[in-house]
Amino acid sequence: MSTTTTQTQEDGARRTFGTQYETKDLIEFDTSKIYGDWRDEFHKYGCVLIKNVLSKERAQYYVDKQLEWLKNFDLGFDEKDKSTWTADHLPVSFKGGMYFAYGSTHEKHTWEARTEPAIVDIFEKLWGTDELITSFDGVNIFPPRKDLNWTPWPHCDQNPERKGMQAVQGLVNYAPNGENDGGLVLMKGSAKLHDEFFAHKREAADHEDAPPPEIKFMDLFLFSQKDVKWFEERGCELVKINMEPGDFVLWDSRTLHMAKFPEGEQIRHAQYICMTPRKFATDEALEAKKECFENYYGTTHWPHCNVRPSSEKPMRNGEVCPKYRTEPFEKPTVTDQVLKLAGVKPY
Ligand SMILES: [Fe+2]
Repeated sequence: MSTTTTQTQEDGARRTFGTQYETKDLIEFDTSKIYGDWRDEFHKYGCVLIKNVLSKERAQYYVDKQLEWLKNFDLGFDEKDKSTWTADHLPVSFKGGMYFAYGSTHEKHTWEARTEPAIVDIFEKLWGTDELITSFDGVNIFPPRKDLNWTPWPHCDQNPERKGMQAVQGLVNYAPNGENDGGLVLMKGSAKLHDEFFAHKREAADHEDAPPPEIKFMDLFLFSQKDVKWFEERGCELVKINMEPGDFVLWDSRTLHMAKFPEGEQIRHAQYICMTPRKFATDEALEAKKECFENYYGTTHWPHCNVRPSSEKPMRNGEVCPKYRTEPFEKPTVTDQVLKLAGVKPY
């Protein structure tokens, strides 16, 4: 059995660009306003499931593209043969199914998803502008694997020092995702309690597979079981978000969330997509995005600040993965829209 991990490189540790520590909502929303759509639920709870954003056929297209991508590595992965759902037959992932390396975040199909009109429309409605930039976040292809020691990882993706609504994360779901399938679990309502929780000094939980501190993810906080309880005692609820192909979920980055390990037969297929107004970004952040775009590096979900190029090489059994590559198998079609969303071209 292979052991796989992401290399901790010196250069990865120091390279976060366009750092920002805002302490209030980047846009002030009128709390008395009624939108008459998903925004009402989003502003109430800090998260919302939006149904049928993509058609079933379109979602299946992305499932097929993700499977094709896995098979391009020629490691013997076969979606119909469970014995191949192991590290030896898969490229190197994070937490069992998230991919950031191998130019994966700039594959043609990942950009096609970012430019789906119905997905862009969600972020345009949310922020009230069509001048958006996108993250180069990863995909999630997670078979129910038997070769993993996997434990959930309750966390939020906003630094405790940062207050207010800074970013809203998105996930587009491609395959059926029921109660037992691998998927997203959200602590509904927890975003609104972020400031109260972090008003006290809090120690991040010491999780066995937490990223090593030298990686310095600026916007990651791991919660302990006691912290999870703290939110539950205040009326929040952990909810597994069951989704059909083509559904989309949005959550405020302050929301406590985690993944559920896939059980049963179904491979999880999803992609993380996040967009914020270009005007939030500094020149330094835009410059870093350009570097990521040109070198096919991924980022975290943050589109406009704390740009952290995922340039680490994937490691397999202590060595750089022999399948390591620096370009997508299928390069994206670079349209005007892609350049604008990448932050490379101004509006
Ligand atoms: Fe997260």
